[in-house]
Amino acid sequence: MNYLDLPALKCASGTVKLPGSKSISNRMLLLAALASGATETRDLLDSDDTRVMLAALKKVGVGVTALGKNAYRISGCAGVFPGKDADLFMGNAGTAIRPLTASLALSGGHYQVSGVPRMHERPIGDLVDGLRQIGCDVRYTGNDGFPPLEIFPASINLDAPIRVRGDVSSQFLTALLMALPLTGKQAVIEMSTELISKPYIEITLNLMARFGVKVERDGWQRFTISAGQRYRSPGLLHVEGDASSASYFLAAGAIGGGPVRVEGVGRQSIQGDVKFADALETMGARVVWGDNWIEASAPADGQLKAFDLDLNHIPDAAMTLAVAALFADGPCRLRNIASWRVKETDRITAMATELRKLGATVEEGEDWIAVSPAPTYLPNVAIDTYDDHRVAMCFALTALGGVPVRINDPGCVAKTFPQYFDAFGAIAAPVIAIDGPSASGKGTVAQRVAEALGFHFLDSGALYRLTALAALRAGVALEDEPAVAAVAAVLPAEFVGEQVLLAGDDVTTAIRAEEVGVGASKVAAFPSVRAALFDRQRAYRRFPGLVADGRDMGSVVFPEAPVKVFLTASAAARAERRYNQLIDKGMPANIRPLLQDILQELRERDARDAARSVAPLKQCDDAELVDTTLLGIEQTVAAVMEIVHRKRPF
Ligand code: DC
Repeated sequence: MNYLDLPALKCASGTVKLPGSKSISNRMLLLAALASGATETRDLLDSDDTRVMLAALKKVGVGVTALGKNAYRISGCAGVFPGKDADLFMGNAGTAIRPLTASLALSGGHYQVSGVPRMHERPIGDLVDGLRQIGCDVRYTGNDGFPPLEIFPASINLDAPIRVRGDVSSQFLTALLMALPLTGKQAVIEMSTELISKPYIEITLNLMARFGVKVERDGWQRFTISAGQRYRSPGLLHVEGDASSASYFLAAGAIGGGPVRVEGVGRQSIQGDVKFADALETMGARVVWGDNWIEASAPADGQLKAFDLDLNHIPDAAMTLAVAALFADGPCRLRNIASWRVKETDRITAMATELRKLGATVEEGEDWIAVSPAPTYLPNVAIDTYDDHRVAMCFALTALGGVPVRINDPGCVAKTFPQYFDAFGAIAAPVIAIDGPSASGKGTVAQRVAEALGFHFLDSGALYRLTALAALRAGVALEDEPAVAAVAAVLPAEFVGEQVLLAGDDVTTAIRAEEVGVGASKVAAFPSVRAALFDRQRAYRRFPGLVADGRDMGSVVFPEAPVKVFLTASAAARAERRYNQLIDKGMPANIRPLLQDILQELRERDARDAARSVAPLKQCDDAELVDTTLLGIEQTVAAVMEIVHRKRPF
């Protein structure tokens, strides 16, 4: 896809399960590779940057076995890599090329290391200088100070401390720290400049400790690894969620009302980027912390405040603040972010250029950027993303400030978050909830409204019908709540155009049968069945938007929906419609139920749907009532569209 158009969005709320942390994933993979014993990693990030690392490790002889979704077994080499000759392509992954280069330089082999053209513009000189001081033979095959590199076997001498700069990237220090235990000797590193992005070093030290290697630290000045320490596998490790990726969703809650909750990082996180939540709080956002989650909502008065912050400790997440600044109440300044210049692109220039396109006034310096909000922004601006995942992700937030925006090359998010726009849609795409009793015409109306708007459509009743049908087919008694819930949890249902499939079998007509409808109404009364279908229904919330039809769309499944409609009609009118439908379908009179029996059955079903303890059928307070007793389909669609236009959810 060349671009993605995001409409002006009104609100964001919901929960996002974060993908694994990039920083932790790539460090963990390398440490597991160098350790003795096998390590099982769970919840690893699945993205370009981790794929690059996995591929490189395999090439140098590390055993990598996929164990299922985002889980791997890494068979450690108990020291240096066994593969002594390899040509390694590292894409644009800084977290892979830097640490790997240091470990390769100590592995006694001949290696070539290269990346995409931008990687060949990203500095690595400070690391190579550090490695050369101890005797490593690392040569530049392109420009001095930059990849590509060629590495040769060498003898290592650790008698003197290694002096290394820490003011361009903290990854050089991380790379040395992780590699030096391979020598088995005492190693000392001294910083020759100030160290930036310190929290990333804390991640490194924390993970090294989990693999059994302790580093003594003198402030942020001197690091000592005592002799004889070796990496040992801790066995099983879980990767926490990515705190940098969390920033977009937390900001979405702050800009778009919220609450938006991210799961996978929280109070217990070892990632410095969780401090982004504090910066957001400085802007007035309301933030709540759990052990493994963080939640953000807009300020009580709805207005984000201006800020002037040193963001050296959260350089990646700080980009998100530059976009949030568009909606602050005054000029905002982001300071001490020089590392932006040597990331995936020159991020200071990129952010300034794109923010200006929208109409903001932006000033920039060598290591700072200042954003002055404008009263209004230009709609439908095409944002260039410079093959930088974070530019694409943070500019999506513009839409939540009510500014429709085009994101060019949205696929670049695959570097760290391939499903980003789906996850963003799941909290921000507009939802139109249409609830009401059986035969109120809402199915047809909801489908027509979805077509008119070009939105996705969720027929939630079909999921309950499918559950009942699947249970009946499996011989499960509809009264057996746990068994029916188990059926619902793994329902093999698919919607392909107009067709409904159950385990590949076309059941489009079968689920409309009367006994299936009655069965659906029974199983729908079970709380555990409703819980089992909840996430599945929420997953329909995607760009450009969703029309959801059911009984509890507005009250339970999408309580945040900006448009809620309750469609109803008198029981007599609904019974008559159903009766006429049967005639239209050609059902012969001798097997056709009597009108009064249909009416009786509808009343019973209404009573059951309304009386159940969970998600009973009722009009919620913020839903608009449309009585269709005297309306045809066209008139009802028009009435709903009038509500949609009046509420302007996008
Ligand atoms: O809309 P429908 O007739 O296809 O729904 C079938 C049954 O499923 C209905 O009796 C109530 C139940 N249902 C529900 O409980 N919650 C929903 N969101 C949708 C349907």
